Amino acid sequence: MCWIFAYKWDKEASSFLLEWLKNLEYRWYDSAWICEINNSWEFFLEKAVWKVSNLASKVENLWKDLTWFNTWIAHTRWATHGKVTLENTHPHYSKNERFFIVHNWIIENYIELKKELEEKGYTFYGETDTEIVAKLIEELFEIDLETTIKKVFKKVTWAYAMAVIDRENPNNLIWVKIWSPLVLWISENEFFLSSDANALARFVKNYVNLDDWEMVVIKGDNYKIISLDSGLSLEKQSESITYNEDNYSLWDFTHFMEKEIFQVPEIIDNFIKWRIDFESLEIKSNTLEELAAKDFKRIEIIASWTSYNAWMTASYLFEELASIPTTVYVSTEFKYKKKFINPETLYIFISQSGETADSLESLKVVKNKWWFTFWIVNVVGSSIARLSDLWLYTHSWREVWVAATKSFIGQIWVLLIMALYLGNKKDLEYTKYKEIISSMKHLRDDVSMVLLNSNKIEEIAKKYAHYKDLFFLWRNIHYPMAMEWSLKCKEITYNHTEAYSAWELKHWPLSLIEDSFPTILINPEWKLKEKNISTLKEVKARDGKVVWIITKWDENKNLYDDVIEIPQTIEELSIFPVSVALQLFAYYMAKELKREIDKPRNLAKSVTVE
Ligand code: F6R
Repeated sequence: MCWIFAYKWDKEASSFLLEWLKNLEYRWYDSAWICEINNSWEFFLEKAVWKVSNLASKVENLWKDLTWFNTWIAHTRWATHGKVTLENTHPHYSKNERFFIVHNWIIENYIELKKELEEKGYTFYGETDTEIVAKLIEELFEIDLETTIKKVFKKVTWAYAMAVIDRENPNNLIWVKIWSPLVLWISENEFFLSSDANALARFVKNYVNLDDWEMVVIKGDNYKIISLDSGLSLEKQSESITYNEDNYSLWDFTHFMEKEIFQVPEIIDNFIKWRIDFESLEIKSNTLEELAAKDFKRIEIIASWTSYNAWMTASYLFEELASIPTTVYVSTEFKYKKKFINPETLYIFISQSGETADSLESLKVVKNKWWFTFWIVNVVGSSIARLSDLWLYTHSWREVWVAATKSFIGQIWVLLIMALYLGNKKDLEYTKYKEIISSMKHLRDDVSMVLLNSNKIEEIAKKYAHYKDLFFLWRNIHYPMAMEWSLKCKEITYNHTEAYSAWELKHWPLSLIEDSFPTILINPEWKLKEKNISTLKEVKARDGKVVWIITKWDENKNLYDDVIEIPQTIEELSIFPVSVALQLFAYYMAKELKREIDKPRNLAKSVTVE
């Protein structure tokens, strides 16, 4: 799984090239490479493991002595087949060193292809599936690259995007999208290609989104887009993209994760301005009006991890507020399980990136059955966004690095708004509806209060960062919050954390409680307060340490070891200050442990392979 980038221009652009690669690095950061070629067939290739800055320091000195190049392919890698080594770092090339390839996704039949090639005398220097395609191009070469690639794609399964250059025809470049994001930008005699439109946003205003089974062939200054199904040339509309410098700058923060958490009050302002009319107490959304008219009787929700946790939260909201039975599936499991057609069921997909392979694949399965699909996505124009029938964006602005924070807030906001809107059209009591909408006036301040308390959260997080194991025990609508907090901690601290509904404690988690295994418990002033106090006592009776998250100090203060205070809100809105507190807590734990917070080991911003 990699992120690819290719470029052809008549001007020198080495410095831009590294910047583009850095813009792609938020997706993957195992290794990076650049391969360039010019009209005189001069050739330059460099690779480095880990960060793009490692590659930059290698090439910047070398570039000084080179004449300029006009065709590049480059990528950042996230290792699937083979370790993070220079051999496995792309580019992968044919035995005759004529064809060079960049590739995203997994070649599923690579073992079979490798065997065939070995029988023909090919040997392999690395462990990747991509190297097999490079050698297959050499083996199947006939007439030119275009003819050959058409033959190659018939043999290679399953889904991928790739860019190929032919050293003997430096003006030819081929890009193929079978199934993996790929966008193209064209102007006069310049061509850019990227797996991610955002990487180009600073430099281009419009781009063409390639659909599955399409190929772009560039020969000199000409290009054509071909359908691999029909063989016909295609005319495609371009789409616009906007660039906002604020999204790319760290301002005065130490990490993007920290910056993105501190952006939440502004995002909430934006949400409210966009959707809520406090005078009429109405939610403004034509999309929701359209959805409500369809009167679905059940909801099935499909999402992957942080997005899944947002959905778990939503299932409480949809059932409580909109009285719609809701089932949530993690997308990895949904695709392959048996499905029961029910026209009264609404299928909702949620994804920050809009590119997560499991969610996208599940969406295609549902679409193939002609069921109605709705999606909630943060990245405008992403693959999931292009396929659904109806949608809402989370409008949380670009989230740069791996841990999802402000986008999670955007997700739970959209879900709450949906539940309220649908509930108001059904049997939600108007006083309840009114109470929630009116209380939204204070949401920004409530979240800001948590951020103002960040020093205290940091102090406590520093202490608990040094425990290798932690429990998160919460109830009801806060249970998915506990799951999300636990996920965030594991993801960036590498400590072991587990989240359970506090009801579960007596079934088995209690056996793990001891002095060295602390518990984070939430107990705001809501309906389950007394039950939470029982849980607190059960943990303390086993010498467990407790961090108590409360809205008000109470008579149990001798029992807690530490306290994080959050503002008192109504229960349905508490998920916002609670989320921000938990995100900060995880962030400060990771900071105390000196983790590389924005680039946690082995992870990537969007998982585009199954
Ligand atoms: C965790 C995180 C991941 C994503 C998951 C789904 O902080 O970011 O667990 O939530 O990979 O990604 P999206 O929402 O882009 O589908």
